[in-house]
Amino acid sequence: MSDFTHGFWPIYISVITLVSIIGTWVFLKTQTTRKLAPGEKAELMEHTWDEDLQDLNNPLPRWWLGLFYATLIFSLAYLALWPGLGNFAGLLGWTSLQEYQQEVKTAEARFQPVYAGFMKQDIATVAANPEAHAIGRNLYLTYCSQCHGSDATGARGFPNLTDHDWLYGGDPDTLKATITDGRSGMMPALGEALGPQGTKEVANYVLSLSGRKHDARLASAGRQKFAENCAACHMPDGSGMAAMGAPNLTDKVWLYGGSEASIIESIAKGRNGVMPGAAQTLGTTSNRDAKLHLLAAYIYGLSQQK
Ligand code: HEC
Ligand code: HEC
Repeated sequence: MSDFTHGFWPIYISVITLVSIIGTWVFLKTQTTRKLAPGEKAELMEHTWDEDLQDLNNPLPRWWLGLFYATLIFSLAYLALWPGLGNFAGLLGWTSLQEYQQEVKTAEARFQPVYAGFMKQDIATVAANPEAHAIGRNLYLTYCSQCHGSDATGARGFPNLTDHDWLYGGDPDTLKATITDGRSGMMPALGEALGPQGTKEVANYVLSLSGRKHDARLASAGRQKFAENCAACHMPDGSGMAAMGAPNLTDKVWLYGGSEASIIESIAKGRNGVMPGAAQTLGTTSNRDAKLHLLAAYIYGLSQQK
């Protein structure tokens, strides 16, 4: 395969390369013809520096010249055997793609039995295995850390995976489903339906659910609005619904923030956190199912630690 945009360029490059190498050869040859006869002194050049520093015109030592020629021969041999000269593929037929594919094959053959072994065990068992933990950690750092953080404690909008608080559930099967297929949290924008005053009232009711500082009068006005507009997803007591990924509003864990302003923003504009399915991210990489298994086990293990 060639990346050249036009047939002219490979020829252009090849000609310059070959002319340079041959030119260097000719230059070396023509500039090193003089040899000293036995007993002959090297020619003294005319200039003198720093009062007494003189310059002799000695021929280059033979071993030194030999090195020069050796590099020229090496470069020609290299260009003959490996790709490097324009479009010419080289006599050995080496390509970086082939080398990569060979490496992948070797790695697959090496890891296949390891992966197969873990596939036979359930997630809780795999989670307790230190080797599986190390592989899971590498996979996590490659595919998940950009969103959930390298320590998996998350960030605003990206859930902490090390606590016991789950949007969708923390049992092995649910975790595996979340990781494999992804999730999409759908919190509708209710600002218009509730109006600014209504939004403030419900927000204060939500603050009261987790015992945060709130305006009691606003909160009691919000209670009924919560029952009408929110309970379907967050449950009447605000404890959330895993099937919808609707967060528990009565605890101290917040996905988007527990201040009045953040809660008002959640209610007024809605939220739509998207967790991409790792099955798709992993695509056609080898041992995909085993990797999903190990990822689920790694996350399960993290959440079991504390
Ligand atoms: C592009 C960012 C992104 C990447 C990459 C990502 N996640 Fe997520 N993940 C999210 C978001 C956002 C949510 C919350 C979804 C929601 O709000 O409903 C989430 C939710 C989750 C949940 C559910 C948490 C709960 O409380 O139920 C788990 C488990 C999870 N991710 C694990 C992973 C794993 C494992 C990987 C790597 C394979 C990963 N995530 C990669 C953004 C990401
Ligand atoms: C259709 C279901 C649904 C309805 C109705 C709904 N919510 Fe939500 N809510 C969700 C989901 C799902 C999320 C999580 C969004 C995400 O993962 O990005 C959420 C998130 C939130 C959050 C952010 C929580 C956090 O941890 O930061 C607040 C606050 C909230 N909802 C309050 C309300 C209030 C108040 C109402 C009623 C006025 C309401 N919701 C109505 C489904 C709903």
